[in-house]
Order: sequence, then C-alpha cells, then structure tokens
Amino acid sequence: MSSRILFVCLGNICRSPTAEGVFRHRARQAGLASLQIDSAGTAGWHVGKAPDPRTVVAAQRRGYDLSGLRARQVCAEDFDHFDFVLAMDVQNLAELKSMAPPGARASLGLFLDYAESSALREVPDPYYGGEAGFEQVLDLVEQASDGLIARLGGGRS
Ligand code: 4NP
Repeated sequence: MSSRILFVCLGNICRSPTAEGVFRHRARQAGLASLQIDSAGTAGWHVGKAPDPRTVVAAQRRGYDLSGLRARQVCAEDFDHFDFVLAMDVQNLAELKSMAPPGARASLGLFLDYAESSALREVPDPYYGGEAGFEQVLDLVEQASDGLIARLGGGRS
C-alpha cells in the first residue's frame, strides 16, 4: 500500500498542519509506522512560519504537538513524490489540479472523503473565526484520519 501523504490547505498554518500532526499521532498509535506525512499550502504567504497559535493551542489541548511544524508551499515535485495529496476544501483541490504536471503520480482528493460519517465535504477555514472553528477542524480531521488509517490497514488502539 502507498505510504506518502501530503495534506494541503491555503496557508499551511491552520488546517493542513492540524491534519499532519493529528494523522501522524493517530497513525502511529494504530501501528502504521512507515508512512511519510507532510503538509503544505497552495499560497506562499506564511512560508517558514509556525502554525497559527490558536491552532497550536487547540491541538495541544487534545494531546497533539504541532509546535515544530513550519509552513511551506506546494511545489511541482510534490505531485511525483506523494501517493496521496489530500485537500481540505474544494478551492484547494481546484488549485492542486491546476498545478499538477501531466502524468504525475499523486492521487488528488478531499481529505473529508475519508470521514464517512461527516455531512461536510470540506474542512471550513477557521482563520477569520473564533475558537469553535479550531475545535471543528480538530473534530473533522480526527474523523478523516481514522477513516484513512482504516483504509491503509491500521487497527485502532
Ligand atoms: P489555512 O488557514 O489555509 O487552514 O492555513 C488560513 C491561513 C491564513 C490565511 C487564510 C487561511 N490568510 O489569509 O492568511
């Protein structure tokens, strides 16, 4: 089974670093040790920055440490390096499709397609909202992570 997964949002400081940290933590707990996991943004505004402090604090409350992550922008090589490039919303996905070189290896999709019990298809952007938005990001990302882990053959711990 494929083992390289890139999570993508707009700025790479809220949703996709949350996905990276939560998925890494839960995949390890589920015994999926050999995965390569990363995140990136379609925009370059925050390159080199740590995740948004509101994202770090909300994740920390649930036991996920995002403090060491740094933002980067999606690049052409990502489409050949990763097996799955999973977008947080349809705008991110459209952007990825327009960037993908012809014949690239990566399969592009929406991360929430793995959250089968969720009514939402997209992870809402929490950047301009309040604390509840960051909790919702975590709820959705946890659900989708567990769905993807199950698809990759991991067991729940
Ligand atoms: P993200 O959230 O795409 O989940 O990282 C955002 C971060 C920054 C901005 C927008 C969304 N921004 O406009 O700077």
